[in-house]
Amino acid sequence: MSEHVEIVIEGKTYQLPVVVGTEGEKAIDISNLRKMTGYITLDPGFVNTGSCKSAITFMDGERGILRYRGIPIEELAEHSSFREVVYLLIRGVLPTYKQVNRFSVLLNDHSLVHEDMRTFFESFPRASHPMGILSSMATTLRSFYPYLDTEEEIDITVTRLISKIRTLAAMSYKISRGHRVVYPRHDLSYCANFLNMMFDSPVRPYQIDEDVVRALNVFLILHADHEQNCSTCAVRVVGSARVNLYATISAGIAALWGPLHGGANQAVIEMLAHVTDKKATVKQLVERAKDKNDPFRLAGFGHRVYKTYDPRAKIMKKVCDNVLEKLRLHDPLLDAAKELEDIALKDDYFISHHLYPNVDFYSGIVLRAIGIPTNMFTVMFAIGRLPGWIAQWRESIEDPAWKISRPRQIYIGPTKTTYTPFEERE
Ligand code: ACO
Repeated sequence: MSEHVEIVIEGKTYQLPVVVGTEGEKAIDISNLRKMTGYITLDPGFVNTGSCKSAITFMDGERGILRYRGIPIEELAEHSSFREVVYLLIRGVLPTYKQVNRFSVLLNDHSLVHEDMRTFFESFPRASHPMGILSSMATTLRSFYPYLDTEEEIDITVTRLISKIRTLAAMSYKISRGHRVVYPRHDLSYCANFLNMMFDSPVRPYQIDEDVVRALNVFLILHADHEQNCSTCAVRVVGSARVNLYATISAGIAALWGPLHGGANQAVIEMLAHVTDKKATVKQLVERAKDKNDPFRLAGFGHRVYKTYDPRAKIMKKVCDNVLEKLRLHDPLLDAAKELEDIALKDDYFISHHLYPNVDFYSGIVLRAIGIPTNMFTVMFAIGRLPGWIAQWRESIEDPAWKISRPRQIYIGPTKTTYTPFEERE
């Protein structure tokens, strides 16, 4: 294949290099386009723009493929733990027994948060959204745990973040309910520890159920990375200014909060509750979603990259069925979700727009089944996505082609205008 493409601008031909990835994806390298031609490219929402070369995650939206470091998501969901996936994403290889055990010891060593941080938690108004609290607390960690940019210190900071985010999330939940905070335990695995910090109480000790722990592991694995999505892009852009890692992660959390991104899992439950509360029928929701004059969209449907069934949604749907069966729960929201999926997948609008359920469509029902309150759903996503953000941040700062992120624009405002004094303005 040619290593160049030719473009003709104002009658002159220019050659631009072609970059080919290991899975055959092709890009035209336009980094010198403006220098060569005086033109820039315009691509709102970066629909057609590659911002980096990356060796972390491969996804193919047409074929419904997702792999971390080359390993299919289906295999990771079936055989691995979240802890292993964190290691894989950040270090680039699966850990040996010895490495994963050492990593667990480090996660335990860093699981506590400074007692003074409780003061901040207690000062947030009760109605604060946990994502706002988490984003603020992530930046606050920098004041409690300063670090230098040495390799070893970055490793400690990464471990701290992975471990403490779980403690902070559980603390925010307990404090928001006015309950006593539960401390992390060294004898529990990453996910079991989190569930215990969330649900244990002096009056009702939490019984750890291995099926629930497994469901949480799979939930976090499925969310661990998704190449250059909105929050990861925010992390890379903010990190490109060489800001500290805590503030960088805080930016990722803020981006994830949006209902078009990580906030969709909460939006799905709220939408399905309209059906179970008899405020709308499934058919009415589908009709509203198709109406161009109505801003309503089916939450949990559609994706910028997947134009077929999201492979994570398939796994999540299975986890959902298993967890409800194991816990002997019947959730009417699941019935509404399945009815909605059936109708939407047969509807011409959804077929022609390639709109399929995404990972968030069933994840909220899984989280509800394990007892996570709706306003914590996006926090759960943030815990899962953290290793991906860190891996992408690390790759970006170590990239020899690193540059501060600074796109250009096409200006469409007024041309040069003179200043009008107050008395002459209309
Ligand atoms: N319901 C109804 N119509 C939709 C939906 C939806 N959920 N999603 C997209 N469409 C339609 C749009 O109206 C548009 O139609 P048109 O071309 O006839 O005008 C077309 O599909 C393309 O939509 P865009 O907004 O251009 O697609 P984009 O790739 O920019 O957006 C997004 C992707 C934001 C995920 C969108 O599908 C959406 O809003 N979905 C609902 C929210 C959601 O589930 N977000 C979670 C995504 S997964 C994640 O972040 C983990």
